[in-house]
Amino acid sequence: MKNLSSNELRELRNKFRNSKQHKYIPEASLIASSKESTALFNVAWMQQLIPYLMWKEHPLGKRVFNIQKCVRTVDIAEVWDASHLTFFEMMGNWSLGDYFKDEAVSRSWEFLTSPEYLDIDPNKIAVTVFAWDESAPRDETTANKWKEVWLPESRISYLPADNNRRSPGPVGPCGPDTEIFYRVGNSEFPPEWSNVWNDEDNWMEIWNNVFMEFYRDESGTLSKLTNHNVDTGMWLERMCCVLQQKDSVYDTDVFAPAITKLEELTWCTYTQQQRRFRIIVDHARTAFMLINDWLIPSNLAAGYVLRMIIRRMTYNLMLLKDFDINWYEKVCTELLKTFKHLREFKKDEILRVLLEEIKTFLKTIQNWKAMLEELIQKEKKNQNKFLSGKDVFKLYDTYGFPLELTKEIAADNWLEINEKEYNDA
Ligand code: ALA
Repeated sequence: MKNLSSNELRELRNKFRNSKQHKYIPEASLIASSKESTALFNVAWMQQLIPYLMWKEHPLGKRVFNIQKCVRTVDIAEVWDASHLTFFEMMGNWSLGDYFKDEAVSRSWEFLTSPEYLDIDPNKIAVTVFAWDESAPRDETTANKWKEVWLPESRISYLPADNNRRSPGPVGPCGPDTEIFYRVGNSEFPPEWSNVWNDEDNWMEIWNNVFMEFYRDESGTLSKLTNHNVDTGMWLERMCCVLQQKDSVYDTDVFAPAITKLEELTWCTYTQQQRRFRIIVDHARTAFMLINDWLIPSNLAAGYVLRMIIRRMTYNLMLLKDFDINWYEKVCTELLKTFKHLREFKKDEILRVLLEEIKTFLKTIQNWKAMLEELIQKEKKNQNKFLSGKDVFKLYDTYGFPLELTKEIAADNWLEINEKEYNDA
């Protein structure tokens, strides 16, 4: 297997796609346009491509590719495990009515396993394929292609629509997908029986190929599209983790400089404070990228997500070293430098927006913490494992104390939140 830096991986992959006659399409902004969808953030370029997946001719032709920045916060609670991030780069390529399942599978296999490209051991690869439901049969074409390129049947898991059907929105183009996984975990050679279905924790998703062949209408009914399209996305940070043989995405060259810098600035070690370090570097990078795309923190929609991310980062920093605003400014400035290779940052704008939000947060958090502390003590005294949802809602509704942060502080005290009660309230 090749040991590549993140930049080398970007270059090699672009070379591969160029050699397969794909044209580079520019990155889209992270912030979704309300004209195109109801999503807050762009989902890996899919919204912009919807007309071309359906009928329109793309000015660059039928084969396009790029590296798209993405923000996804559905997995925010998992940020700190080996593979989840709120911001990541997705290496995507698309066939707009050109090649379909056969070529998508064989080209993925070529890039991953051929000595000219990543040279990954085929024994360490497993895939999932769409099983079936009332609206579509099991995806035998894709499964057969995987067997033809090499994969034994035991490495193929057939999973339902929840796992293996993908679409940019509830209505519009969609299709079955086939997800590619790399073996993580301890054993050098995975046991023959192991696959994603029966041994999920030991496999990490690295690449998804979606076959957009259907249109889903408002009633949920699928009809065939005229075009057969492929929409793929390979996770850059996860591929770095594989190629650099690290235990997590945070240990790759993408984050290593930020983590070293944080150790210097906080006098804490990454080994001792792994979870907080990972949350801080992930959230800092996401905030930089969102502000760079002109988002500002607010109480609404995407702006609220940004506010949450900045506050969660600040809270975790505060627990490492509680200092004044100048110290936060130094941390943000230094972390920003460590991600310099990624993009041309609007450095001054990012720091201005970020510090304004941190300042507001630092002012209010002391009062909030005192109120929350009271609730925590009350529940602990009653030997409860949950904070009352009503109380938590009151903190949110009356004092603006966000749920996500209450959860974070509660978890530090071994308490959970009664979310049903919170939602009812
Ligand atoms: N665009 C597809 C995704 O985001 C590959 O999963």
